[in-house]
Amino acid sequence: MKQHNFIIAIDGYSACGKSTVAKLLASKLNFLFVDSGALYRAVTLFFIENNVESADPYTIQESLNRITLAQTADGLETLTFLNERDVSSVIRQMEVSNRVSKVSALREVRQFIVNKLQEIGRSQNLIMDGRDIGTVVFPNAHLKIFMDARPEVRARRRYAELLAKGEHISLSEIMDNLLLRDRQDTTREESPLVQAHDAYYVDTSDLTEEEVLAVIATRYGEVAQIR
Ligand code: DC
Repeated sequence: MKQHNFIIAIDGYSACGKSTVAKLLASKLNFLFVDSGALYRAVTLFFIENNVESADPYTIQESLNRITLAQTADGLETLTFLNERDVSSVIRQMEVSNRVSKVSALREVRQFIVNKLQEIGRSQNLIMDGRDIGTVVFPNAHLKIFMDARPEVRARRRYAELLAKGEHISLSEIMDNLLLRDRQDTTREESPLVQAHDAYYVDTSDLTEEEVLAVIATRYGEVAQIR
């Protein structure tokens, strides 16, 4: 299916700086930014708060039927709503981070979120970041970026982010969580994290935010010109 609105898919490992750069680029291009990971986190929060422990497809589906998700932009921030409650901060807590890879590996959960993401992407120019955006959600995206960085760099970035929010988690706990999630996200059966064959690879380990933004913006300029 030909996609008429312009879609930029940014996939990659946790804490590579995907969201930060995607938000900046979205604001520069006046595109909508969608943080797909936040939606998986919101579903995970619902499962935690409602003690949904079973992987039984019926139970999962029944729980998903009780969930409505929404995302809105608030300046450069993105707010995520779970059943109309603003959960933007709570979904970043370690309790959610520790469970999200398991929940996002469930087939019913993936189908639920993929449908939602495709619906959002039907009519507007957007940048979406995640793990399967260029491979599953929008395989016809006009520009696909795959972001990577060395694990120690990612852990330090996430540590600084959480510290700024007043959360005191040790660097080693963050590193363990990132490595575990890398393993779970890349080895799960349902749409594992892989680089799309036509994605442009960017290693952000030794680049500043501005440099990453410049690399992607240049790539966008090239693709938009050809289009
Ligand atoms: O981007 P993030 O770290 O907030 O994502 C949280 C988790 O959600 C991540 O460990 C895997 C899952 N996820 C996914 O499976 N597919 C996506 N498109 C986005 C996130």
